[in-house]
Amino acid sequence: ECSLINIHVILINYFSKAIKTAYPNLEDFGQPAVTAGSKFADYQCNASMQICKLLKAKGENVSPNAVAKRVVECLEKCDIIEKVDVSGPGFINVWLGRNKLRDILQFILDNGLKAKPTVNKQKIVIDFSSPNVAKEMHVGHLRSTIIGDSLSRVFEFIGHDVLRLNHIGDWGTQFGMLIALLQDKFPNYKTESPPINDLQQFYKQSKVLFDSDPEFKKRAYDCVVKLQSMSPDHVQAWKLICDVSRREFQKIYNRLNINIVERGESFYQSRMENLVKELEDKGFLENDEGRKIMWGPECSIPLTIVKSDGGFTYDTSDFAALKQRIEEEKADCILYITDAGQSTHFDTLKKCAIRANILDPSRVRMEFIGFGVVLGEDKKKFKTRSGETVRLVGLLDEGIKRARDKLIEKGRDKILTEEEMKQAETAVAYGCIKYADLCHNRSHEYVFSFDKMLEDRGNTAVYLLYALTRIRSIINNLGTHCENINQPISLDHEKEWKLAKTLLRFSEVLSKITEDFCLHHLCEYLYDVATTFNEFYDNCYCIEKSQTGEIIKVFTGRILLCKITAEYMNTGLNLLGINTVSRM
Ligand code: ARG
Repeated sequence: ECSLINIHVILINYFSKAIKTAYPNLEDFGQPAVTAGSKFADYQCNASMQICKLLKAKGENVSPNAVAKRVVECLEKCDIIEKVDVSGPGFINVWLGRNKLRDILQFILDNGLKAKPTVNKQKIVIDFSSPNVAKEMHVGHLRSTIIGDSLSRVFEFIGHDVLRLNHIGDWGTQFGMLIALLQDKFPNYKTESPPINDLQQFYKQSKVLFDSDPEFKKRAYDCVVKLQSMSPDHVQAWKLICDVSRREFQKIYNRLNINIVERGESFYQSRMENLVKELEDKGFLENDEGRKIMWGPECSIPLTIVKSDGGFTYDTSDFAALKQRIEEEKADCILYITDAGQSTHFDTLKKCAIRANILDPSRVRMEFIGFGVVLGEDKKKFKTRSGETVRLVGLLDEGIKRARDKLIEKGRDKILTEEEMKQAETAVAYGCIKYADLCHNRSHEYVFSFDKMLEDRGNTAVYLLYALTRIRSIINNLGTHCENINQPISLDHEKEWKLAKTLLRFSEVLSKITEDFCLHHLCEYLYDVATTFNEFYDNCYCIEKSQTGEIIKVFTGRILLCKITAEYMNTGLNLLGINTVSRM
């Protein structure tokens, strides 16, 4: 028995089988369309029209209604289905069996919502976040971080083996000038770690010198060469600089509760050397004014594999990383999460890797998961008033402050302890930032607005967090009234039944996410669950109180539905990386 039962998939397979029995000669027929929640039935199968067309092409003239009836005759027994009939021009209506669904929900209540170990366990590499050393981690990286973390959680939940990789930009020519400046300003860097607190400033300063001072420029170039040939002093200087950035990045990851393994571009240095040899030997590289480039089939731009000064590029490290992930990590699926602007880069990389026989797309799935830009409230690229990139630490601080203000505005500080306030404000602040990102279709741009994301109505994190705390308090307020329930889960009322069906769409939603990598499906699902729960709660008494407010009767079968709803909502929010609280 598995709690991740996918009713949609079960019905598709069920009808597929019947259609094959009814019409064994229809080779062209793919999958029957099955949809949820028509007014007249729990599910509906709309395959008849399409079957008719295919039959007509073979010279057979039958009505969709007759086709539907023939399919229904060929259906086998199925324990989740109670009744099937045909209506209108050949729709097949399905009613689910309440006893079976009750058993499934009871199982979830007893065991918690979890997937059974996946039969087809895959190694999934997710490349996300990936900021650049000595540069500001900006909202684009934040978006990648939020989407990447949530996708990782979904794949982990289903039972796959996920490797979360931070492909940090920690290698390249900019380190020449950074090391040169480090040597100038902190000549003792080998014995005392340099007190750089503002690496961005440091970067800007080195850039100014690089552009204005020829002697400095020469030394910077020299430093790159020494670094790439692994001179110990230069490697040490490089490490010190990376450490400063790493500490800054880690602050963000800690606050947002992000797990990720750092594996920057530098990791691939020796692999890049080997890759260049391999590509050269196989004759894939062309000379282009001193650069070595590689073309993929039907590509508008080539990859630059070796620069004219002999250095490697972003393309080279990505190519080597892809090879490493396929051959050493044995990845079945590799996902890249960056802004949509990098789609050409990854498309070219994929085609070149296929051309070089490094990637076999029939064995390894490589997907670029692009996302739209984050806009400010003026609908322009998200910037500070003075036009600088917004510092993420500052943004998170503001989120916390705004969340606290919101809670105080609602008088929650008078009810909650200071400890509970702290928990609530972090859950709300980080929850609303993550949710605002994930609830938009990831390929679209979205407007970053604290006012909007902190609204407690509509499809927001605040609304969902409140909905969940409310359900939890319904259960908690029962105290001992709710112990040892041995009543069945109540599913007789129309609203109870609607809630149950809505909840059970969970795994259908997850499997959709594994196909199109869009997390807004999960947000919409959770919003749907919360509103359906409210409908249920407004229509079905869960407790009866006396005039003095004492509980005199508890409808335990309904309390069980509350508990299951809380389990689904908590799990779903966690998959979005959102912490829930018991009071707020
Ligand atoms: N460091 C890059 C940037 O800031 C993102 C890297 C994405 N991952 C990759 N394998 N190229 O734009």
